[in-house]
Amino acid sequence: MTSVMQLLDLTTPWCVHVAITLRIADRVQAGTSNVTELAREAECDPTFLRRVLRHLVAKGVFDEPAPGEFALNDTAEQLLDEGLKLSSDLDGLGGRFAHSWGTLLEAVRTGKPAYAERFGRPFWEDLDANPKLRHAFDALMGTVGHGTPDPRLTDWETVRTVVDVGGGTGGLLAEILKAAPHLHGTLVDLPQTVAESEALFEAAGVADRVTAVAQSFFDELPAGSDCYVLASILNDWPDEEVVAILRRCAAAMNDDGRVLIRGGVSPDEHAADQLTLEAVLLGGRNRSLDEFRQFALDAGLEVAKTRESPYVVELRKPTT
Ligand SMILES: C[S@@+](CC[C@H](N)C(=O)[O-])C[C@H]1O[C@@H](n2cnc3c(N)ncnc32)[C@H](O)[C@@H]1O
Repeated sequence: MTSVMQLLDLTTPWCVHVAITLRIADRVQAGTSNVTELAREAECDPTFLRRVLRHLVAKGVFDEPAPGEFALNDTAEQLLDEGLKLSSDLDGLGGRFAHSWGTLLEAVRTGKPAYAERFGRPFWEDLDANPKLRHAFDALMGTVGHGTPDPRLTDWETVRTVVDVGGGTGGLLAEILKAAPHLHGTLVDLPQTVAESEALFEAAGVADRVTAVAQSFFDELPAGSDCYVLASILNDWPDEEVVAILRRCAAAMNDDGRVLIRGGVSPDEHAADQLTLEAVLLGGRNRSLDEFRQFALDAGLEVAKTRESPYVVELRKPTT
C-alpha cells in the first residue's frame, strides 16, 4: 500500500532543489568534500547544509564516506546535468517552477492559473521582464534541456517552405533545414528569443535559408508557406487560444499546406489528461487526438493524419 505520509513529505524535493541551487554536486566534483568548505563556497550555513546533505544521503543522493565529508554517487551525479540545473535552481527559473506548484489549490478552485497573483504578471510577461529567466527558459527549451531535436515531423520532400511558429531560438528549425537542404524556413517567436536565433542559425550553417520574425503568433503569421510547425506550443494555452493560433496558421497557409503539431497531444485520452507544469504556469494542458479533431474543425481545418516517433498530428484544409 502506498504511504500517504510518504507522498506528503516535501523534505526530499526541497533538499534536492537546495542542493542544486547551491551547486553542491558541482563543488564536490571540483574537489571540495568537507561540509564546512562546501558551505563557505556556497555562502550558506554549514550546520543547516549538513542536515540537508544527510537527509539526501539517507535518500540515496550523495555518500558520506566520513562524518562531514560528502561524495558523489550515481544519483548525485545526475545533479550535474545542465538542464536539471536550469529547471530546478530556486534562484532562477526553477524557483518559478517550484513555487508555481504552491498555486495549485487556487488554480483548481478557479480553473485558471494563479501565476500572475503569485509573481505579479503572467508567465510570458514575467520572462520578458526578466532576461535572466528568459535566457534560462530558452536554453531549457533548446539542446541544453532537450538535446538535439528530431526533425522527422513529415515528408520534407513534399514541402518547400516551413514556418516554425513559437520556434524558440530556432533549434528545431535548424535541424529541419539541415535534414532537408532544399527547404527555406521562417522562425516566429517573441523578440528576446528570436534575437538569440541568429548565432544558432549561423553555427548550423543554415542562416542563408532562414528568416527570423519577432512577433506574436496571435497576430497574422507570415503567409504563403506550405508547412506551419507547432512544437510544444498548444499545450501552453487554454482551449480558446489553441483555436486562435490554429486559425492564424489556417489563414496564413497555402491551400495545400499543412500544420504539424508535435508535443502536448496523445492518442490516449487518459495519458493526455495528466496534470503537468503548464497547468499552473499557464493554464495549458495536454490533449487527446479527439480533442484536436474538434479544435481543427473550429479553426477550419481537419486532422489529415498522424505519425509516430515523434508523434505528430497533421492538419490540413478540408478537401471538399
Ligand atoms: C514551450 S516553448 C516551445 C519552444 C519550441 N517550439 C520547442 O519546441 O522547443 C513555447 C514558445 O512559445 C513562445 N511564445 C509564447 N508566447 C508567444 C506569442 N504570443 N507569440 C510567439 N511566441 C510565443 C515562447 O517564447 C517559447 O519559445
